[in-house]
Amino acid sequence: MTELLSLRGVGKTYGTVRALEDVSLTLRSGEISCVLGDNGAGKSTLIKIIAGLHRHDEGTFTVGGEEVRFDSPRQALDRGIATVYQDLAVVPLMPVWRNFFLGSEQGYKRWGGLRIDADGMRATTRTALADMGIDLPDVDRPIGTLSGGQRQCVAIARAVHFGARVLILDEPTAALGVKQSGVVLKYVTAARDAGLGVVLITHNPHHAYLVGDHFTLLKRGRMAGSHPRAEIGLEQLTTEMAGGSDLAELSHELSRADLPGLPGAPGAPTPDSAEERPQP
Ligand SMILES: Nc1ncnc2c1ncn2[C@@H]1O[C@H](COP(=O)(O)OP(=O)(O)OP(=O)(O)O)[C@@H](O)[C@H]1O
Ligand SMILES: [Mg+2]
Repeated sequence: MTELLSLRGVGKTYGTVRALEDVSLTLRSGEISCVLGDNGAGKSTLIKIIAGLHRHDEGTFTVGGEEVRFDSPRQALDRGIATVYQDLAVVPLMPVWRNFFLGSEQGYKRWGGLRIDADGMRATTRTALADMGIDLPDVDRPIGTLSGGQRQCVAIARAVHFGARVLILDEPTAALGVKQSGVVLKYVTAARDAGLGVVLITHNPHHAYLVGDHFTLLKRGRMAGSHPRAEIGLEQLTTEMAGGSDLAELSHELSRADLPGLPGAPGAPTPDSAEERPQP
């Protein structure tokens, strides 16, 4: 598998906030690399560096073996790096096909002017969605009427169609229910099968483990783990993600809460007292 991009010891400071420190990650084609971490762990900062929105101030970032320091998302896009943000930049009232071609409209010359090729773009959108196995027959619908999951799918198909080699997804399933999350994850694997490298950001170890080939855990801006799939199971990933010791501490604190009915709370029945109760 070809190496698409690589980060080595990358760091980023915003004013006095050290958002990222000494993070390393390698992405190859045909691979899904998951980045997991809690709120504020630095996930968005990491992908903003890859996407050309922010610049790293430590370490090296290479694309196709060549060191880069992007000044704009356009530069990242020119290198084949497409990013799908959670709050998708779409124009809700415009049809699906217009959104699909937003910024890359096709046209033709007619009577001395340039006209947009609506029929061509409609047909291409239909084919591109069908090629990914996305079932959306009416591309004239305003994109705002689609579900969040469907919109994510259109964005993924768009990145694949316009030749992205790297697809970055920031929490694509965060706002979705179980079924829609499944559909989005299916198209994430379709993008991988088309040979793209995917960086999937998520809070959810279950979603990550369904599709991931590699898992990077971030905690307060630092790497708290980096494992190929063969070396980690779902249970361990979930525990690491939750922060094993933090979770034990939380469970201890909760068990002391002054709530009747909770184990350990005053007045709560204990297994012993239940046994002592007279049987009817
Ligand atoms: N533009 C910014 N200016 C200053 N501080 C920032 C900026 N962006 C992020 N930070 C800080 O950097 C740290 C990492 O933030 P980041 O958004 O990368 O986390 P995240 O893992 O994406 O969190 P979430 O799960 O909430 O999206 C946080 O402490 C955040 O407050
Ligand atoms: Mg974020």
